[in-house]
Amino acid sequence: MRAVEIVRPGGPEQLTVREVPDPSPGPGEVLVDVTAAGVNRADLLQRQGHYPPPPGAPAWPGLEASGTVAALGDGVEGWTVGDRVAALVAGGAYAERLVVPSGQLLRVPDALDLVDAAGLPEAVCTAWSNLTGPGRLAPGERVLVHGGSGGIGSVAIQLVAAYGAWAATTAGGPERTARCLELGADLAVDHRSDDFVAAVRDATDGHGADVVLDVIGAGYLARNVEVLADEGRLVMIGMQQGRRAELDLGAVMTRRLTVTGTTLRSRTREAKAAIVADVATRAWPWLDDGRLRPVIGARLPLDEAAHAHELVESGNVFGKVLLLP
Ligand SMILES: NC(=O)c1ccc[n+]([C@@H]2O[C@H](COP(=O)([O-])OP(=O)(O)OC[C@H]3O[C@@H](n4cnc5c(N)ncnc54)[C@H](OP(=O)(O)O)[C@@H]3O)[C@@H](O)[C@H]2O)c1
Repeated sequence: MRAVEIVRPGGPEQLTVREVPDPSPGPGEVLVDVTAAGVNRADLLQRQGHYPPPPGAPAWPGLEASGTVAALGDGVEGWTVGDRVAALVAGGAYAERLVVPSGQLLRVPDALDLVDAAGLPEAVCTAWSNLTGPGRLAPGERVLVHGGSGGIGSVAIQLVAAYGAWAATTAGGPERTARCLELGADLAVDHRSDDFVAAVRDATDGHGADVVLDVIGAGYLARNVEVLADEGRLVMIGMQQGRRAELDLGAVMTRRLTVTGTTLRSRTREAKAAIVADVATRAWPWLDDGRLRPVIGARLPLDEAAHAHELVESGNVFGKVLLLP
């Protein structure tokens, strides 16, 4: 089969398509014919040599895909050859075929475009597990999602709205904030011109955010702590502006804040399966009534993986970039 190889750590030009042996499913695993793969920022780090695939994962990048079930390993139940699926994986989705632990598959509804479904698993699993897990989100609460224009944020806004919570978000520029409002955000702040702390406080009558889902990291730590309501939870899932910053422990103590974070890729198969099962039950059904839909910025052939990485790096995309083998 064809897969995208990283020739050596470096720029997008290091991505090239080559023939590799077809994978075969082991016990509890499913072979998927890939229809499309989602591009994630983690793939860019992997290409640069900063984020090696976990043991057992294929060498080529790709954390999510959509496709059809092509074969079942021993002991797999609940799936049939030909089923339309979306998959959360630890690597290897930039390829024509992919082996997936059966617990990491989600069923793609008939009405949903199978290509676009590739943009969902990583974003839905990351956003949902963090909002409802460490974020302890309850309906009616106020949430600030940073980067509502991104692959993760564009899905997180929809999940917050569908769950019956109030969603504020940040994005760069008026066109991007307008699109966030269309996705269901109640407030969209242009981070290039406006202060999100003041904007969220104003919009919530001084209450602040019960949960902040953050993809920025160190550069926003102080302001994220400032914007939290009493007993608020800051959940960090990205470090686009660095990993080290000063934390005001006085604010954490007096306002009883929680400051935490997670990474999805490093979780065990069992943990991923538990997240996928919870998503399948509580969030995935929103695809049926349109409260949740993939937000796709670009669809490119697998041969253009380098261009796909350039696009994500440029920041000039709204939503997800997909690769089609
Ligand atoms: N922890 C995990 O398990 C996990 C899983 C998946 C992804 N992630 C991480 O989450 C982050 C986002 O991933 P993604 O797929 O959504 O990436 P993406 O599609 O490239 O989006 C990046 C987002 O960051 C926003 N952004 C950049 N600078 C900002 C600023 N100063 N203030 C507010 N927003 C800003 C961008 O908004 P504008 O372009 O509109 O400015 C854009 O929406 C990445 O760092 C990724 O590695 C973590």
